[in-house]
Amino acid sequence: MRQPENSAVTPPVDPFSALAADTSARVLRNEWVNAEYKLIVLDAPGLAASAEAGQFFNIECPVVGEDKPFFRRPMSTYAADAETGQVEFLYKVAGAGTRGLATLLDGQTVRILGPLGVGFTLPEHVRSIVIMGRGVGLATLAPLAEMAHRRGVAVTAVMSARGPEQVLSVDRFEATGAAVEIVLDSDGTSDLANVEAILRRLHAQGRADGFYTCGSNRLMLLMKRLAGELGIYGEVAMEQQMACGLGMCFCCVRNFDVDGETVSKRVCWDGPVFPLAEATSW
Ligand SMILES: Cc1cc2nc3c(=O)[nH]c(=O)nc-3n(C[C@H](O)[C@H](O)[C@H](O)COP(=O)(O)OP(=O)(O)OC[C@H]3O[C@@H](n4cnc5c(N)ncnc54)[C@H](O)[C@@H]3O)c2cc1C
Ligand code: FES
Repeated sequence: MRQPENSAVTPPVDPFSALAADTSARVLRNEWVNAEYKLIVLDAPGLAASAEAGQFFNIECPVVGEDKPFFRRPMSTYAADAETGQVEFLYKVAGAGTRGLATLLDGQTVRILGPLGVGFTLPEHVRSIVIMGRGVGLATLAPLAEMAHRRGVAVTAVMSARGPEQVLSVDRFEATGAAVEIVLDSDGTSDLANVEAILRRLHAQGRADGFYTCGSNRLMLLMKRLAGELGIYGEVAMEQQMACGLGMCFCCVRNFDVDGETVSKRVCWDGPVFPLAEATSW
């Protein structure tokens, strides 16, 4: 897999050089999983199905009525299986792009460009990780739990949501043997002080030599602070509005803190997964 670069001015190599493909994928299923989210399962053999945890696709969303999404929309790989050739995305129906995506019927096709970007890594010394996410961030993190399971790395998933109905992918995490802790706004357990206490407890129990997060600025900042204080390795999958998804338009640039210096990087090209220590608030 391509490694992250340290500078936003490094020109991209040809992204199509055997790393990604623009695939016309056939819809196998496109179903509601709760009141806000749908799961789309695509038949997309070839390069698409080789996507790794944390990588994403740029998806051409259909034009429907007043909704005319000009740019493709980036979506994290929720699942990719090279044997079956299937690729899945879990998405929140939010605006023009995802409303169009939600109309796709079984048998229709959709163009997906990918896999793109730099995914998650599990360094040798990391044997027990905490995965913490919220909302659609949990879709990005579910394949990481499976990657960790395959490599014999223990996982605790701290899943944050507004209420029980919004907790996504618990079964995916549990199927990997992950210990799951759910924290909710509705009962106050998602309060930062409580989440901090959970993370400190996991660290004290020897269950946290890696922190991985996605989907919440405040949870990312909490993990970053604790990782710095306790000397824990960390990675974050960032979200940012994108256009090309290929490193060429620079619309996804964000500032990162690299060894005390502010460095601009493209989320689509240098990430979307970055060292937690480099991430800054958004
Ligand atoms: C690397 C990456 C992976 C992503 N993975 C997923 C995923 O797995 N599932 C999923 O549902 N979404 C994901 N997103 C967000 C997705 O790309 C769309 O932005 C989002 O679904 C809204 O698109 P839309 O066209 O429906 O709404 P729009 O009409 O484009 O926007 C609706 C609302 O969402 C806000 N918004 C748009 N783009 C973003 C963004 N990137 N981050 C935060 N807010 C935004 C807009 O400001 C607006 O308020 C990902 C984004 C990135 C960068
Ligand atoms: S979206 Fe074009 S450079 Fe990142």
